[in-house]
Amino acid sequence: MDNEFQDVSADSFLGSHEPVMVDEVLHFLNISPSGNYIDCTLGGGGHSIAILDSTESSSRILACEVDIDVFRSSSLKFSEYSKRIKIVNDSYVNVSVIAERVGFSKVDGIIFDLGVSSMHLDVGYRGFSIMRDGPLDMRFNLSQNLTAYDVVNSYNFSDLEHLLRMYGGEKKSRQIAREIIQNRPISTTIKLAAVISKVFNNWRGRIHPATKSFQAIRIEVNHELKTIENGIKSSINLLKSGGRLCVIAYHSLEVQIIRNIFREATLDCLCPRWFPVCRCDHNPSLKIITQKAVTPTLEEVKKNPRCRSASLRVAEHI
Ligand SMILES: C[S@@+](CC[C@H](N)C(=O)[O-])C[C@H]1O[C@@H](n2cnc3c(N)ncnc32)[C@H](O)[C@@H]1O
Repeated sequence: MDNEFQDVSADSFLGSHEPVMVDEVLHFLNISPSGNYIDCTLGGGGHSIAILDSTESSSRILACEVDIDVFRSSSLKFSEYSKRIKIVNDSYVNVSVIAERVGFSKVDGIIFDLGVSSMHLDVGYRGFSIMRDGPLDMRFNLSQNLTAYDVVNSYNFSDLEHLLRMYGGEKKSRQIAREIIQNRPISTTIKLAAVISKVFNNWRGRIHPATKSFQAIRIEVNHELKTIENGIKSSINLLKSGGRLCVIAYHSLEVQIIRNIFREATLDCLCPRWFPVCRCDHNPSLKIITQKAVTPTLEEVKKNPRCRSASLRVAEHI
């Protein structure tokens, strides 16, 4: 990695992440004192620590974190719980295989807290931050090839425009894509933020005008939507009957995926409507617990503005 950026070492990841809706997650997980849980997105470890602190010494957690820097810095926080938590540096898309490998089956609850950790946004060198300079990277998994640099500098106009519109909900996607292409090569986050800002000439808002574009590029780089879909689907079978699945989303496309998975898992037939008789043998596996998404209280949003777009959805294994 380039040395020209100030916060260049992984040590700067020792920052913190304020966990979102902890009380709500504990409530909806319906914590059993001796239960076993899976935290698919360890991040700063806030939800895992809250579960460990609400359970007895026989209760265990399996936690996944795909990002090696987050994994290393968070693991340090769990030394006093080392007998009760198994932390794996892997993607939750592999959660079934991981759970089998470490002897976790039929757990009492699973939590997914999607998106980035504050630790990603508070350093420049990983390329997620609009405010701190760094190389255009944005990979959660540093062993994958595709980076934000590749997306920004090699995608054609229509692919770039499409992802800005679809994943960022960006209304000025055409102008932004054009501006990016005209200013290539772009190799740093601050340069990209400045190029995007040109499209919003008199911007005076509170939220940086490049926020949606950065989010869209991050989703593309990490294939986030496919990963979320596959990860959540494969986690369902790891729940025991009565076990709870809690998912915190921050983006409308994530919400759509969660809603579809939950809805499909409640149905007793997935055949097209025009089939005269059912041929799918599909059995419902989930019951929806939160008919309406749970959102953070105003008090929490005041304390932690980054949680303002969070919404929690919960289902229970039948
Ligand atoms: C919002 S943070 C989680 C925060 C955490 N709940 C806490 O209380 O600190 C999301 C975390 O998920 C991680 N992540 C993203 N994609 C992942 C994946 N496919 N598998 C495992 N972890 C992933 C990110 O690196 C990030 O640390």
